[in-house]
Amino acid sequence: MGILLEERIGLVNKRADRLKKNGTFFWLKTIENASQSRVVVDNKEKIMLASYNYLGLIDHPKLKEAAIKAIEKYGTGTSGVRFLSGTTAVHKELEAKIAQFKGAEDAITYTSGYVTNLAAITSLFQKDDLIIIDKIDHASIIDGCMLSGARYKTFLHNDMQRLENVLKESVGFVNKIIIVDGVYSMDGDVADLPGISRLAKKYNTMLMVDEAHSIGVLGNTGHGIEEHFGLKNVVDIHMGTLSKTIPSVGGYIAGKKDIIDYLRHNSRPFIFSAPIPPVNAAVAIAAFEVIENEPERVHNLHKNMERYRKGIQSLGYNIGNSITAIVPIIVGEEEKTLQLCKVVNEEGVFICPILHPAVSKETSRLRSHVLTNHTLEDIDEALDIFEKAGKSLEII
Ligand SMILES: Cc1ncc(COP(=O)(O)O)c(C=O)c1O
Repeated sequence: MGILLEERIGLVNKRADRLKKNGTFFWLKTIENASQSRVVVDNKEKIMLASYNYLGLIDHPKLKEAAIKAIEKYGTGTSGVRFLSGTTAVHKELEAKIAQFKGAEDAITYTSGYVTNLAAITSLFQKDDLIIIDKIDHASIIDGCMLSGARYKTFLHNDMQRLENVLKESVGFVNKIIIVDGVYSMDGDVADLPGISRLAKKYNTMLMVDEAHSIGVLGNTGHGIEEHFGLKNVVDIHMGTLSKTIPSVGGYIAGKKDIIDYLRHNSRPFIFSAPIPPVNAAVAIAAFEVIENEPERVHNLHKNMERYRKGIQSLGYNIGNSITAIVPIIVGEEEKTLQLCKVVNEEGVFICPILHPAVSKETSRLRSHVLTNHTLEDIDEALDIFEKAGKSLEII
């Protein structure tokens, strides 16, 4: 039996109102400058631990210059879908750049990472097909599966035995694909690509990886999960966003030319919806170029990741299996998580809590993101704040 819409609205809004009254509503905060390593929030400068600006590109002079030039040349939008109103050269250039960056034959872009997963999954897979996903894959993958009409099954997070069990028992489907996140966005751990790709090959199943949090982060040159594991061409469909390391907006699929052509001719979010504005395409091209031309950004990020992760861990916090720029501070109980968030925000760290239903009730957490532009002082100051707060609340 469903519940009345008013009741449903009431339930959600009441929870938010309760947190606002307690002073523990940390979401939707107004930030008064670029989302760099220090931000001004509530009139106070704080160390930014909530941004996906992993490589610090958000206000890079080359990206700003590319943006200004694109606005001067193309104006502010496209005023129509690319299929019917014409496409700009800058959109095509971006797709060529992404294909080169990912070592793929071709690429297609969409208006967001979320839309990209929906577009690719619903266009490629239908009734009589099987999609196998990790239990904690991103919501946009799950939503894509639900919309596609294909059968979908989950396996226990990063558990190769469970994945093989699902593959073994899945016979009679026309097409099969495994879809995983490269870096898991709530946990900061990495998909077991060697294991998954071995099983995909053994069971003649395609493989798609969402690289929203691995581009610019994984691999010595930031090219992502295949580089991280020293593997080549084991992923059939590379998905990524242009809204995190690449500080623009949009998403992409890179892969074989025939798949990309099919998506151009068949995916509804490409045919029935306008693209990202040319300015965002130009910024994204410049960002991919900077990643390749300024490798020290990735190297410094890796150093920062290690310093912060080891620091948080040595304080006694539970960070699960994180080895990336996303470092969860798993507190457990929701109330304690909110208290910790309140204290560290008051002391000068900007961070948000992640609660149920985004994660299970007993694993409520704060999710910290390490950036290449964090200085050693930023990291040490943040660790100090977490030490004092954790001790005062008896979490560590
Ligand atoms: C793993 C993953 N995939 C896809 C998305 C969606 O990307 P976008 O914000 O560009 O829509 C996100 C966003 O947080 C993500 O974490």
